[in-house]
Amino acid sequence: MSPIPLLFAEFHHSGDHEGAWRLPGSAVDRLADPSYYVERTRLARDGGFDAVFFADFVGYDPIVRDVVRWPFEPTTLAAHLFASVPDIGVVVTGSTVFATVDQLYRSFSTLYDLSGGRIGWNIVTTGAPATAHAFGGGVVEQHDARYETADTVVDELSRRWAEQGRRPLFAQAGASERGREFAARHAEVIFTATPHKQAAAAYRADIRQRAMMIGRDPDEIRVLPGVLITVGETDDDAVALREHLNSLVTVGAARHMLSAYGVSLPAAGLDSPLDAVAFDPAHNGIRSRAAVLAELAESLGPSATWRGLVDRIAGSRGHLALTGTADKVAAVMNEWIDDEACDGFVVKFSHNPGGAEDVVRAVAPRLTARGVGRGAGWPGQAVRSGELRSEVRSSSSATAEAIASGASSWT
Ligand SMILES: Cc1cc2nc3c(=O)[nH]c(=O)nc-3n(C[C@H](O)[C@H](O)[C@H](O)COP(=O)(O)O)c2cc1C
Repeated sequence: MSPIPLLFAEFHHSGDHEGAWRLPGSAVDRLADPSYYVERTRLARDGGFDAVFFADFVGYDPIVRDVVRWPFEPTTLAAHLFASVPDIGVVVTGSTVFATVDQLYRSFSTLYDLSGGRIGWNIVTTGAPATAHAFGGGVVEQHDARYETADTVVDELSRRWAEQGRRPLFAQAGASERGREFAARHAEVIFTATPHKQAAAAYRADIRQRAMMIGRDPDEIRVLPGVLITVGETDDDAVALREHLNSLVTVGAARHMLSAYGVSLPAAGLDSPLDAVAFDPAHNGIRSRAAVLAELAESLGPSATWRGLVDRIAGSRGHLALTGTADKVAAVMNEWIDDEACDGFVVKFSHNPGGAEDVVRAVAPRLTARGVGRGAGWPGQAVRSGELRSEVRSSSSATAEAIASGASSWT
């Protein structure tokens, strides 16, 4: 009896691929247009997604010059989305490091009440130097120490919300040793970047084991790997689209992408040989993705260039990347679910608008038809208005088979 797999949609303004904003049909003219975000969220809701997710790194990031990602502050955006699309979950990032307990309590309690409980909080331990700068200091607390702070913050907020019998869904993306410990302790939904099935299965098993060790029911935790989807009418179309998107990535965007994981693009540039990917040992940001990058670099073979590595991680940033027909993409996703490598996915769209519509039209029905995501399968669930956290918890005990047959245990 497998629980209902979940489908989350991760939205970046122009799509996840760093070249997407340069496509002729991109919506760069709608950067500050709230109706664009409402439209994207409705699309996800209609596609059967359980929630939309907005990443955030809190501070101003100069990458805005090379790639368009996060123009709006996400908690403010979430309030607007709930007013217009009340029947989907919205998960937004809130830094446990660059905010006080009271601030977080106030923001997320407000969002909880505004939305009738449909808010999720991505409990991150922001490590970006730009964020530290935005908060008046140049120094980011050390990696593991940030998780200590985060434990204290989340414990205190859990206590406050437990007293009130309500709280947002907690999502997290812990991948380092300390990050996994934190995620297994607090999160109900865990995002992860695992580029192949074995890595995903091993990550999920590890998280479940850690949860059991601290007395949590592992079925309370849903592990959702990110998947970058580039879909086409034929495999060749999809590959051509992906290659075109790769060709639109600027050198600045490539450099930034690598530096986020502690890797410097050599002065010789993108076409120089990828002989050694050296990681800065003092890198204080996201650590775990370095290992994913090293493995991807290795897999490219001896004649690889830096461009080859950038082409591989563009958009996906080390997540699973699927390029092909809707049939092919959905088959791999369903196989990961069947093989218990994950409990659903965080879908990343190659480009937006366009790629997201293609996924909703062609890929999502091939998933929802077999009970993935709550949107399509639940009898009488055209409108979802309960607490997101309760829905996610119930989906672990209800089964996809029961939903598909219409015999819902949902109340
Ligand atoms: C799907 C996904 C989304 C993430 N979103 C954010 C985010 O919005 N803000 C952030 O600071 N970190 C984000 N992260 C990074 C994680 O919070 C975390 O720093 C990282 O996955 C692992 O950190 P660690 O290796 O340092 O434990 C995200 C990671 C993943 C896999």
